[in-house]
Amino acid sequence: MAWTAVILAAGKGTRMASQQPKALQKLAGRALIEHVLVTLSMSEIDDVVIIHPPETKEGFIEKIQTEIKTTFVEQKEALGTAHAVKTALPHVATENLLILLGDVPMLTKASVIKLKEKLKNNQLVVLTASVEDPSGYGRIKKDQEGKPCAIIEELDCNDEQKKIKEINSGIMAFNTETAKNLIGKIEPNPKKNEYYLTDAIEIAYHEGIEATTYTTTENEVFGVNSKKDLAEAEKINRQKVTTELMDAGVTIIDPERVDVRGNLTCGKDVTIDVNAVFVGDVALGNGVTVGPFTIITDSEIGDATNVFSHSNIEGANIGSKCNIGPFARIRPETKLEEGARVGNFVETKKSVIGKGSKVNHLTYIGDAIIGRETNIGAGTITCNYDGVNKHQTVIGDNVFIGSGVELVAPIEIENGATVGAGSTISKHAPGEKLTIERAKQKTIDGWKRPTKKEEK
Ligand code: UD1
Ligand code: CA
Repeated sequence: MAWTAVILAAGKGTRMASQQPKALQKLAGRALIEHVLVTLSMSEIDDVVIIHPPETKEGFIEKIQTEIKTTFVEQKEALGTAHAVKTALPHVATENLLILLGDVPMLTKASVIKLKEKLKNNQLVVLTASVEDPSGYGRIKKDQEGKPCAIIEELDCNDEQKKIKEINSGIMAFNTETAKNLIGKIEPNPKKNEYYLTDAIEIAYHEGIEATTYTTTENEVFGVNSKKDLAEAEKINRQKVTTELMDAGVTIIDPERVDVRGNLTCGKDVTIDVNAVFVGDVALGNGVTVGPFTIITDSEIGDATNVFSHSNIEGANIGSKCNIGPFARIRPETKLEEGARVGNFVETKKSVIGKGSKVNHLTYIGDAIIGRETNIGAGTITCNYDGVNKHQTVIGDNVFIGSGVELVAPIEIENGATVGAGSTISKHAPGEKLTIERAKQKTIDGWKRPTKKEEK
């Protein structure tokens, strides 16, 4: 049976106090709605309809990558969740309908599957949770047989109803025809003058429509309405991700001080120290150690490599047994071969550092290819940019570059060459020889240091 998922994301989002639509606020580096879409992409959904606020379509399209056919529909005025669904209905061609909220991002595939399953014997299923503090959520009212007979919004609850701990996640599965029938009957809420989707439950109950609930965990249906909720969601998500990593054998020094904003995969015996941040797709091999205050983005790191504190690695391919940092900046398209070392205050970009080579101190390596077992002295700079174009530096195997050298690209330093400290090298340096470029040193006899003039 075919399914359309409708994501409601057109509310005013007033409580977020932001210029951005709420569903585009970021949780763990991704827009809230992206989390929902990732779950949908795994849940055998045929179509997605996104209800977005006026004049925001571009912003939504830009951030959303999904393989499921997606239709963007503007809700001209935020007249309530039922009105948002009504706006979507003309775009729903399937027999079944899943309603999701753009601000409930941590929903799992397992619950989507459960809802779909339960709809086989019902016309309406509401995803609920039993929560410690139900404030802000709609409360699920059940009859004596345990059937849902109404959802009462916080504002409309009496003191007794406020105590109900089973809450509406906002996520529901419908038979599409049933949804059309029910939505058409919803009247505006007298207090807020909005059409509440939650009213569908009471109408269904009175019409004898088969409805039921499926209850999941509190964390999964946490609704994000404010910046405070956003921080809380980060916390919930962090706990989930770090628990999964630790269950898979990763040593995490403090699970409250690690952020994963994307997908992190780890081999065996990986250790992650405090305040490490992983962005995008990151893969760490066996025995990798990640030092404190390190950011690693879209990179692969080979077995037994150590990343020391305060390093920033992005778009890099790091081999095994390498040492990086502390305070290294590895920029996109850097490749480190086995056993390479990049030390403190070194920046690399679009470069290969060959097997066993060392770039240990205060250096810039850009658009360069460095061979094996080469040593780059402290303070070396590849001058790769002439103000208009970038040029390449090629350095062979077993080269020794002294400290404070400038290599003006395009240039080649052959295998086994030695370059004297302090040289500005702008011509080819041949192999197995010393190349040096240095002004003659002189000493001036009888020279006196200036002294301070006496004040009168
Ligand atoms: C809603 C539910 C509440 C539930 C809670 C779960 C209603 C009336 N209330 O309350 O029972 O416990 O979610 O988190 O449904 N939206 C639109 N168009 C609109 C209004 C809202 O697209 O006209 C979207 C919002 O962008 C949001 C979602 O619908 O993504 C829910 O709206 P929101 O205003 O956040 O509802 P809650 O007060 O959280
Ligand atoms: Ca909400």
